[in-house]
Amino acid sequence: MLKRNLCYTSVFCFGVFLLLYNALTPCENLKKAYMVPNGGPRVMYDGNRQAIPYDNNMPIIFIGGMPRSGTTLMRVMLDAHPDVRCGEETRVIPRILGMRTHWEHSEIEKKRLLEAGLDDEVLDSAVMNFILEVIAKHGDAAPRLCNKDPFTLKSSVYLNKIFPNAKFLFMIRDGRAVVHSIISRKITITGFDLNDYRSCLVKWNQAMESMYAQCLHVGHEYCMPVYYEQLVLHPEVWMKRILEFLDIPWNSSVLHHQDFVGKAGGISLSKVEKSSDQVIKPVNVEALTKWVGKIPKMLLETWLK
Ligand SMILES: *[C@@H]1O[C@H](CO)[C@@H](O)[C@H](O)[C@H]1NC(C)=O
Repeated sequence: MLKRNLCYTSVFCFGVFLLLYNALTPCENLKKAYMVPNGGPRVMYDGNRQAIPYDNNMPIIFIGGMPRSGTTLMRVMLDAHPDVRCGEETRVIPRILGMRTHWEHSEIEKKRLLEAGLDDEVLDSAVMNFILEVIAKHGDAAPRLCNKDPFTLKSSVYLNKIFPNAKFLFMIRDGRAVVHSIISRKITITGFDLNDYRSCLVKWNQAMESMYAQCLHVGHEYCMPVYYEQLVLHPEVWMKRILEFLDIPWNSSVLHHQDFVGKAGGISLSKVEKSSDQVIKPVNVEALTKWVGKIPKMLLETWLK
């Protein structure tokens, strides 16, 4: 009788020990089961109710660069192509990319997230799906999706990781013209002091350096620098090169985008974007020389010393 009791007690104790051991010992592989989204491929529907599947392996087009460098012109020219839809700036995509960068670069935050199971894989999957859903659903369905939020190109290397077939168009324009445009049109950009011509040029230089380095890093197969001045001077030559780079068949509609503004399947413009009133016009060279003679004299004098 006593022997039997002892036996029960020891089995019971062993059981408690096992439970405690499992609960208190951190195990190597915490994730024994993974969540899997249900349903098949995600699809969007075009005007003819044709389903177009979309995923992160699509060759999404990202247009970027410094604001006021022809990024809107580039996107409306592509929007005029029947196979492409870019649409308005989403604003939230560069923000989430900025947050993702912060989570990575802040050591204390990264540690907290890792402790909570939010490793790179979890975060990348969440950020990728956020960006993909916004791009796919904020406008019409199209075989080639495109996004234009100028500062996304500060994260080309990261975007290239989560969208491995994405293509980047990096708009480059003379810094003097960019800064003149920012100041004269009162474009608010975080970090830019609109009363200080010189510091704006410095900021332009820094932003361009970072974006250019990332463009080189993802390589010429995926990132193409496009000079605004060249594009407006020789639109046909450059649009042919750009469509070839993007693997999109040539269509001359990209050379008269102004005919597609506001049309079904054409170009949708935002009432509150600063470039909308400029891109309703055909491609023109008006903006090439507006800055000439507008750089403050004092600044020129200090440069010449
Ligand atoms: C070019 O695009 C227009 C509409 O934007 C379309 O009607 C036409 O068929 C296209 N041409 C070719 C050769 O694909």
